[in-house]
Amino acid sequence: MKKFKAIGVLIFLLMSLGTVYAIHQTQPAETQVALPGPRADSLYKYITVEDDYRNWSVWPGKGKKIKGRAPLGIITTYVNENALYSIRAGDKMVNGSIVVTENYNENGKLLALFVMYKIKGYNPSAGDWFWAEFNPKGKVIVSGKVDACIKCHEQKKENDYIFTEDFVK
Ligand code: HEC
Repeated sequence: MKKFKAIGVLIFLLMSLGTVYAIHQTQPAETQVALPGPRADSLYKYITVEDDYRNWSVWPGKGKKIKGRAPLGIITTYVNENALYSIRAGDKMVNGSIVVTENYNENGKLLALFVMYKIKGYNPSAGDWFWAEFNPKGKVIVSGKVDACIKCHEQKKENDYIFTEDFVK
């Protein structure tokens, strides 16, 4: 009987390991740190400490400190793993995608961070984006379902509200 129990336990352990492995394989999430909720302060902490956006890729094919279209000045646009995955897939961005645009003035001084963060079910009528603008010290200028951001980005509704590049096939 003892032997059977031991085998049972072993099988159980192997199955659990298999499940954990499978979950890690299917999720494009990049870190083990849980994604923030729809809150500007937790989002800022996430993108500057828990998964520093400065370590992310810049938008594929775009450089750092390039000339942005109005209303932006000089910009660098960073994408996290989930966003990068979506850009490559040519599909609307998956849950947990984050796009961060640094906006600089002509003298190279950082003025603000513009952030779009996809949260499934957060705002289905406008692409489920959580919008935020921060000053360089992390002070929240605006955040949430921000009308001003949506009204302009809505021009790119078919492209998941994204201006940088038409990536949705
Ligand atoms: C008047 C139009 C307009 C408004 C208002 C506006 N944006 Fe944008 N935004 C743009 C344009 C144009 C770009 C692309 C700049 C480029 O790549 O040259 C852009 C780019 C971005 C990007 C990079 C991803 C993308 O869509 O290309 C983010 C993130 C972003 N904006 C966030 C915001 C947030 C947050 C707000 C509100 C606080 C906001 N924007 C308000 C026009 C606007």
